[in-house]
Amino acid sequence: MKFLAKKLVVPQLVDLEPYQSARRIGGQGQFYLNANESPFTPYAMPSDESWQRYPDFLPQELAKHYADYLSAYLRPELKLSSSKVIAVRGADEGIDLLIRTFCQSRIDGIRIQTPTYSMYEFIANAHQVAVEAIPLSTNFTLAMEENLKPQQNLKLIFICNPNNPTGNLLSAADILRIAEQHKDTALVVVDEAYSEFCPDESLVSEIASHPNLVILRTMSKAFGLAAIRIGFIVADESILEYVSTLIAPYPIPDPSAKIAIEALSAGGLQFMNKQRDTSLALKKKYMEIVAALPMVENVYPSYANFFLVHFQDSAKVFGWLRQHGIILRDQNRVTALKNHLRISIGSEQEMDVMINCLKEFS
Ligand SMILES: Cc1ncc(COP(=O)(O)O)c(C=O)c1O
Repeated sequence: MKFLAKKLVVPQLVDLEPYQSARRIGGQGQFYLNANESPFTPYAMPSDESWQRYPDFLPQELAKHYADYLSAYLRPELKLSSSKVIAVRGADEGIDLLIRTFCQSRIDGIRIQTPTYSMYEFIANAHQVAVEAIPLSTNFTLAMEENLKPQQNLKLIFICNPNNPTGNLLSAADILRIAEQHKDTALVVVDEAYSEFCPDESLVSEIASHPNLVILRTMSKAFGLAAIRIGFIVADESILEYVSTLIAPYPIPDPSAKIAIEALSAGGLQFMNKQRDTSLALKKKYMEIVAALPMVENVYPSYANFFLVHFQDSAKVFGWLRQHGIILRDQNRVTALKNHLRISIGSEQEMDVMINCLKEFS
């Protein structure tokens, strides 16, 4: 199994020596004159921080805090080692890195489950990597027959769980069956961007027994830290070794790493859990209100911080709300989601404004 990553990686990475940045080379000294940094404190910045220094190559302390955070949900024997975690600039960079690490342009392909988060397809298209789109079945469940079929040169199978934009949870048993089926041929990438809203459903615990499973996480959603661009790839070391060959020399800005570490402290986690609970309570309340509105056909179950709504005429509703300064996410372009809009859970005040506007819709 350890050899799977080596078998899948694009040939040009197999023996490529990573760029030897000053931080990657390391070395303990008193005077660091090895990275062409400035010796001066920059304009308008406090002098007690090393602003002029490049950050760590892959911040180990952040990886450790994140591994500990995830381990709190696992049985003690499954405790996650920080060597299975790398920080990236948002889950989006994780998607890009995985595709560039494992898919050769014009030769390899990825598989996605549609409708889903559009970045998998966008990044694959940008790198001339083929995309096999398997439509989700009834109630947005995984189409198992199609997903169990082998496909030549298929390297990555993306599964967003909970899925964006549908909001539903996919079956863990189905995902693991797909991983098992492709254990010698492809990686199964589970994007858990919204996992904090249903923490017991994460598949992080399965990495130990399914080494071709890769989990993407982010601090942009429940942690409320979209601005600092911190996400994580959680996977077997053999996979991360190649990903970190390709990663930029100093990927994580120091201020972002510090803010993320603070958010992962005991106080930070308590704070996040409280805000998460508030969002979940608001979601429940507003889903019920929206479901009772006359122009609504259906409100779908949601395990995330948004919900999907089928309107009689979504373009009209979207335009009406936009006229009043309220912007929803239009799904009309997605064939399976004609007349659907996705609503993020904002503050209670924002949600009330939206509901009042919807009640005045004519
Ligand atoms: C499913 C999914 N994955 C990844 C991302 C991007 O996350 P990040 O902000 O960490 O790049 C999003 C953002 O909307 C998302 O919905």
